[in-house]
Amino acid sequence: MSERKRILTGIRPTGPLHLGHYAGALENWVRLQHEYECYFLIADYQVSDYADDIARVRDAVWEVALDWLAVGLNPESSSFVIESLVPEHAELTVWLSWFLPLGMLERNPTLKAEMEAIEHPEDARTKAKSVPVAFYNYPVMQVANILMPRAHLVPVGEDQLPHIELTRETARRFNREFKPIFPEPEGLVGRVPRLVGTDGNAKMSKSRGNTIDLKDSAETVAKKVKGMYGGPPRGMHDPGVVAENPIFLYLDAFDHDAAELADLKERYTRVGVSNKELKDRLTALLNDLLDPFRERRARYEGNMGLVREALEAGTTRGRAIARETMEMVRDALDLNYLGKY
Ligand code: TRP
Repeated sequence: MSERKRILTGIRPTGPLHLGHYAGALENWVRLQHEYECYFLIADYQVSDYADDIARVRDAVWEVALDWLAVGLNPESSSFVIESLVPEHAELTVWLSWFLPLGMLERNPTLKAEMEAIEHPEDARTKAKSVPVAFYNYPVMQVANILMPRAHLVPVGEDQLPHIELTRETARRFNREFKPIFPEPEGLVGRVPRLVGTDGNAKMSKSRGNTIDLKDSAETVAKKVKGMYGGPPRGMHDPGVVAENPIFLYLDAFDHDAAELADLKERYTRVGVSNKELKDRLTALLNDLLDPFRERRARYEGNMGLVREALEAGTTRGRAIARETMEMVRDALDLNYLGKY
């Protein structure tokens, strides 16, 4: 068993990953993968549209794996785990669901927002929205995911922090009432906790259609940047207010030349800089960032057998540590019924 501390983090397979995922979380994963023993989870149990479209979930599993490989996660030193192929997650969720009061889940802001955002089919008779029980399972399952490899660190986007708090409370309670087997995991949010969307909306998200995806071609990125919201209308040579132009939020996030960026802002405020100049700069920066991802992705796309191997090997390792933890949990809960006689 390795001496390194462990990371567990994950993503739900709902489609291609975007710059928000990268700056908010993935960048940390890539950086920390050498220091920690990492489990990266593709959380398919937690995708809400099984009944609707399982093919979409399956495609997204591969999509996510490819994005991970593309950004430079190493599937040999880290484990890519498909959640439902480690059914211990479901088992631990059931045990833990006795520990988590419903009120605690109902107050969970992330869950609240997600429940509101998703359209639920109506109950045919009462016309009330019917919320699947899975919505309540889902944060419990996320707690189970994190506790499963007895993780110390959970690098995530800021919207996931309430789930980590829930995990810490659960770990404390379990350790106190049964046996001290779980570390209290820390959350870690990336350099850019929340990236604005290309439309200027506060958050980049697939459902708003305002993303720049990691797999977008250079042309697509140029086109999306060109169409970006660049603040209130302004003559080409009018000075502007930096805080009113979200393009600067992108430059803050992705421009590593602090001196040039400061100079650009100063010029923008004093004599004006056209949005075209800002956008050209941003396009070049983003394509510089994404080019190596595109190259790696193309290599793997040409050999999907390697992606499959990554998923298989990672899931096998994820299952091994899950079995170990479940033995500890059963022992702690004293579930050895048959040992009575
Ligand atoms: N809920 C996370 C998301 O929507 C994905 C996720 C599932 C996760 N299990 C996790 C994140 C455990 C961190 C730890 O992105």
